[in-house]
Formats: sequence, structure tokens, C-alpha cells
Amino acid sequence: MNAPTLHGAFARAAVAGLTSDPKALSPKWLYDARGAGLFEAITDLPEYYPTRTEIALLRACADELVAGIGVDAAVVEFGAGSSLKTPILLGALERPAIYAPIDISETYLEQSAGGIRARFPDLTVRPVLGDFMRLAALPQQVMAHEGPKVGFFPGSTIGNLDPDAMHAFLCSARTLLGEGARFIVGVDVPKSADILIPAYDDAQGVTAAFNLNLLQRMNTELGADFDLDAFRHEARWNAAASRVEMHLVSKLAQKVRVHGVTVAFQTGESIHTESSCKLSPEAFLARAEKAGWRSGGLWRDPQNLFSIHRLII
Ligand code: AVJ
Repeated sequence: MNAPTLHGAFARAAVAGLTSDPKALSPKWLYDARGAGLFEAITDLPEYYPTRTEIALLRACADELVAGIGVDAAVVEFGAGSSLKTPILLGALERPAIYAPIDISETYLEQSAGGIRARFPDLTVRPVLGDFMRLAALPQQVMAHEGPKVGFFPGSTIGNLDPDAMHAFLCSARTLLGEGARFIVGVDVPKSADILIPAYDDAQGVTAAFNLNLLQRMNTELGADFDLDAFRHEARWNAAASRVEMHLVSKLAQKVRVHGVTVAFQTGESIHTESSCKLSPEAFLARAEKAGWRSGGLWRDPQNLFSIHRLII
């Protein structure tokens, strides 16, 4: 995906999302260079438990996770981000052959490919710039690879997908990875709103800045005229849908111009910018099985904050 195409897609998504009712935008647009940096800062926050919990869990179960995979694996990472967890998996595998990180952020992709190449000089690294939801094929080298294939989707990024999108994604990952593949997926689990809300609305305001940056991005890239002081960040626990939602709430009645379109906001009206679904092991496995996967292992931390699933075909 080149820059003009991505720009056109962002413009279309922004206009469509802001002219629909309720207003909503896909969380993938949060990750421009500044957004990616702010997300990295979130992962270090005391309130944001997922990253450190998952890293500790991956370290503790790495050998069990890769048991039976053998040499020469091709690892495909969906929404790779900064690939900070990847070395745990690559290091546990015996002589992995190929690493293909897929990400929509060019900044992320360059950073992660560089870091992995430096640490694993014998590995072939094939970055893929694009949206893992719209992937028609994996790089030729991965498709033709004879060795074992391992999909890697940590971070509970899968929780960003609504049920239909999650089903479509799990089906497409199964087709792309093929018979005999393993799929390692990190999934955040339901827990008290007293833990969830601060994790998405931290005391230092980093998550607020991450969310509000979307308005800044529309101002910069689409010539929009959002007043960032006229909106506030809000994290909501939607118990019925078992998800944390991020919203940008309009503090007042106002009109904003976005890519040549006038968008009216009422006081308190919001743009829904992200859903982060929390799924129990049973709930996640039911969805994975509907998409043709079987469970090949489940690991949880002692506090039951997070889960790592190994799916098999
Ligand atoms: C990267 C999608 C897993 O949902 O927890 C963090 C993104 N949003 N704080 C998440 C996020 C607000 C994160 N994921």
C-alpha cells in the first residue's frame, strides 16, 4: 500500500465514519508515527497490565508453545507493531527460517524488521506493509515454504475486531497459513472495570493523548479543523459486549470541517474510536472453532489477567 492510496483510504474512512450514526472510526487509524509512539508509551504505563503480563507469560511458556514445531519454521506476525515480543518466540524456535511481519504502519515495520534482522542474522525477514484484515496472500516465499508455518498475533489486537470481523479474520488466517499450521494468539480476558478503566484512561493522560491524536491526524492529513480542546477522551466498559470502548466526546455543540464535509456534533456526542474485546478462553475458543481451528494449548498468568492460545488446524 503506497502513501497516496493509504491517504485516500483514510479520507474515505474518516468521512464515512463521521457522517454515520453513531460516529465511529476504525482503531487502525490511531497508528500514525505519533500514535505508534504513544501506544509504545502506553505499554509501559503502570495501569496498562496487558503488555507486561503477556511478555512474562510468553517467556514462561515459550518452550511449551513451540513444542513439536521443529526446525525451519516460517513465522507470520499479524499487526506486528514494534515486534518486541517476537524475539521470545523466534528465540524458542529451533533455527526459524522466515519472519514476515504485517503492519499498516511503515514506521513500525521498518523499526521491527531492522531490530529482528540485527538479532537473528540467519533469518529471512519479509515485511508486508498492509492491513491484516485485507490480506489476499502472504509473500510468495512464505506461501511456497515447505517447513512449518506459525501465525503469531499477540497483544490482544484480535480484541479490536467485532464478532463478524473476528470470524472473517480467523477464517482468512486459516486459509493463509494452511493445513498443519499453528496460530499463537494473545487474548485479554474479562475482569473488573476497576482494573480495565484505568488501563484505558491512565493518570498521566497518555491514552487520552493517543486517542486525541486521531483528531490531530485528521487536521494534518485531511485538512480538518478539529479543536482538540473541545473534545475529551473517555474509556467505557460495555459489559453487554464485554469490551472497553474508547470515545472522543464533544464538550460542546460544534461543527467541524473534514475533507470538505461539515460534521455537526451535539454536546456529549462521541466518536467511537476503538473497541477492545475481552474474551474468556471458552468464548475465544468457541469463535476459533467456528472458523475451523482447534485448541492446541492454553496458558494463563497466575493472576488470570491474560491468556495465550495455541490454535491448530
Ligand atoms: C493494541 C489493540 C491491543 O486494545 O489494549 C491500548 C490498544 N488502546 N490502549 C488494546 C490500546 C488503548 C490495544 N491493542
